[in-house]
Amino acid sequence: MCGIIGYLGEREAIPILIEGLKRLEYRGYDSAGIAVFDHDRIEVKRCMGKVSGLENLFKTGRNSASVGIGHTRWATHGRPSEENAHPHTYEGVAVVHNGIIENYLTLKNELKSRGHHFSSETDTEIISHLIAENLQAGLKPLEALRKALAKVEGSYALAVLIESHPDILLAARNQSPLILGLGNGEMFVASDSPAILPYTRQVIFLEDGDLVQITQSQIKIETQSGASPSRPIHTISWDDSQAEKGGYKHFMLKEIFEQPQAVADTLRGRISVEQGDVFLEGLEDRRENFLSAKRIYLVACGTSYHAGLVGRYYFERFCLLPSEAELASEFRHRNPIIGPETLMILISQSGETADTLKALREGKAKGCPTLAICNVLGSSISRMADFTLYTHAGPEIGVASTKAFSTQIIALYLTALALARDRSLVSPAGTKDKIQELLKIPQLIKKCLGLDPEIQMIARKFSGFQNFLYLGRGINYPLALEGALKLKEISYIHAEGYPAGEMKHGPIALIDREMPVLALATHGEGRDKIRSNIEEARARCGRVIALVNEGDEEIAERVEETIAVPRTQEELQPILNIIPLQLLAYHIAVIRGTNIDQPRNLAKSVTVE
Ligand code: M6R
Repeated sequence: MCGIIGYLGEREAIPILIEGLKRLEYRGYDSAGIAVFDHDRIEVKRCMGKVSGLENLFKTGRNSASVGIGHTRWATHGRPSEENAHPHTYEGVAVVHNGIIENYLTLKNELKSRGHHFSSETDTEIISHLIAENLQAGLKPLEALRKALAKVEGSYALAVLIESHPDILLAARNQSPLILGLGNGEMFVASDSPAILPYTRQVIFLEDGDLVQITQSQIKIETQSGASPSRPIHTISWDDSQAEKGGYKHFMLKEIFEQPQAVADTLRGRISVEQGDVFLEGLEDRRENFLSAKRIYLVACGTSYHAGLVGRYYFERFCLLPSEAELASEFRHRNPIIGPETLMILISQSGETADTLKALREGKAKGCPTLAICNVLGSSISRMADFTLYTHAGPEIGVASTKAFSTQIIALYLTALALARDRSLVSPAGTKDKIQELLKIPQLIKKCLGLDPEIQMIARKFSGFQNFLYLGRGINYPLALEGALKLKEISYIHAEGYPAGEMKHGPIALIDREMPVLALATHGEGRDKIRSNIEEARARCGRVIALVNEGDEEIAERVEETIAVPRTQEELQPILNIIPLQLLAYHIAVIRGTNIDQPRNLAKSVTVE
């Protein structure tokens, strides 16, 4: 949560910081702030709410500062307010922070006992106090930062300005993401690459414990113990235009419509129809670890967890392995019986979700081979896992995950297929069939996107309801969960996803004319049974919208609205089924006038537990 940015160069810093913060706003938008130099003094401007409000504060007056730091906040300690907005300054030290300082109360009390006064309720403010104290004691900037952080427990990505040293920027990372951007005569610090993509694609991914001193021409990285680690420079392949709306009204809509391309990119270079084979770069070298797996754990949060629930079917069906999908936030609170024979698959778009990261740590500590399915290059999860399969979906900016879901499912499908091949559970001919079907998916998604006008009409009809029930069976059950999650997070309508077979065990009591029921009734094992559930809902005056395959008149005749998607193999059908569910949630939210790309109370990456 929270996005931070820092700039040091020759251009005007404020427009760069504002634009960067707008691109990081998906990480939080409770308040925003900037600190820059103004004639050797640090000038701070902060406001409640969004970066656009901050931008307005700079409309009058001119500041041509070329060094500065900025922050967009998702509140953890202290309510959203101007006083709690970052940067936090003390005696010429300004700090922006993403993370949580766990021992801040102890440190705050110690500082108070030494006469310090605080102006916010945040955990962050103590960092500026500690650094200022160390500078006053005569330490150089990097040493002052090192000594301050030696006292701090918790997670942080930091950028620091020091009034007495206007030509440097300090940064540090521990368990919160931070990258350095290397430009031509200019340097950047940011929580994520979209913030700096307009200026550079050359980046360094900092590691936990790194402390950095940046000047216009040099970056000095040290560890807490004073060592100088070598950190490679990576080139980001994402294109700057991918982080812009490109004519769409919202990022979410753009990202929904990008799915044909995103899925094609996940598949690119990984399948061959001629050879009837799957190639997962790097995985081949670690085959032994993966082959010895006797059990699979798919661990993730939110939408990525729903992808994991779909993936479970693949590992059970193709690989005949006992497979569990687990919520990362619950995983560690049990005593998961895992070890070297458990393959742990961590699924995360951002690669920074705190619970997923912690589950990965636990898995590694217990000796599990670990595979990450991630979208963000160099993210914490991808670097910690033994092996990463990138989804290559391009930046996902909308808080509601869309293309991440479909591409994660593709990545899981490929992994299961590779594992089944290695275990001789699928013949080359069988693999070839599956690959041929996979190759059709981008085109079939395009067909589903063509349903958009129909779905807009359905959205108009149903946007006024306060509750929704999504029902699915088998591989469509995770889709019911995901459809409901999409609706609730962006339209604020209460929506529940339920396994259709459980309807009679409780939720049927809710059904009346005020309860629309979206039934996932595409072909496969559960289709006939869900047809019966539809009848049961109708018998109680439920208003049913059915998602069916094209040509399924039998169900169409029995329901109020039908959405008909093309047919593909049952295992791949979720990738088509999710498209209308995403569009329906999107259009209902548009009609209700909510903030679609930045729904209230949410942030894109949940980097705190
Ligand atoms: O980056 P991750 O995939 O680890 O994020 C997991 C969830 O926070 C995320 O999927 C969340 O549920 C989305 N807002 C759902 O649209």
